[in-house]
Amino acid sequence: MNWGMKNRLSRIINPRTGRCVMLAVDHGYFQGPTTGLQNLGKMVNPLLPYADALMITRGALRSWIPPTADRPIVLRVSGGQSILKELSNEIITTSIEDAIRINASAITCSVYIGGEYEKQTIDNLARLVDQGEAYGIPVLAVTAVGKEMVRDARYLGLACRICVEVGAHMVKTYYCKDFPEVVEACGNIPVLIAGGKKIEEKAALEMACSATKDGASGVDMGRNIFQSDNPLGMIKAVKAIVHENATLAEALDIYRTPHEGSRILQ
Ligand code: R5P
Repeated sequence: MNWGMKNRLSRIINPRTGRCVMLAVDHGYFQGPTTGLQNLGKMVNPLLPYADALMITRGALRSWIPPTADRPIVLRVSGGQSILKELSNEIITTSIEDAIRINASAITCSVYIGGEYEKQTIDNLARLVDQGEAYGIPVLAVTAVGKEMVRDARYLGLACRICVEVGAHMVKTYYCKDFPEVVEACGNIPVLIAGGKKIEEKAALEMACSATKDGASGVDMGRNIFQSDNPLGMIKAVKAIVHENATLAEALDIYRTPHEGSRILQ
């Protein structure tokens, strides 16, 4: 791995803990103004100091995040479809030159194993890895799971391992029963978990605790942070779990700590 690649990866995955809290706010690329992100800047900018990296599209970045923001950017460079159409029909929407201009610390696309356009999305990942290797920019592969797929260790292990074999430098997937098998399938490639649909805060924090215990290198979490009644409390709690091995009880205390702007009962 070349120096630039290592340098960029170490900006995302904290070398002290070997873990990462990535805040995912790229949902608009196929589902438009997602609840909580209608005014993306108002939601995200106060959370940024607590995130190790921000996963976002170039358009949202330019519209809502000031260029002075001191957070590594994981740039979503795939798209081309919407929730109204077949989701696996993704193409690459951003050139490597624009990713470099943006000073992206990593680039990312989704891979739909078992989806109608599976091969096209694997090809997208392969092209990004070739470009990333050429310029020292790591690639995060997102295992996107179609409605008809079962989110178990067998399927997620298959999807993650294919991404690793194609050359991804980080993989994002879902937490599941027997998660250590998924991590093992990825060798030394860091595995981050997505939060998925909004669930109760305690359950989301419990998932983060279990995932890190089971070998995840952290989270790439969106809705369970920005759709929470206390987004700032949630990201602080997740950060404590990921970087300080906080227990569920400790994380819940952090989440519940009142602060200006919190909508939870004080
Ligand atoms: C898909 O919309 C994106 O890759 C999201 O970044 C991903 O699903 C993670 O966000 P969430 O925690 O909301 O699932």
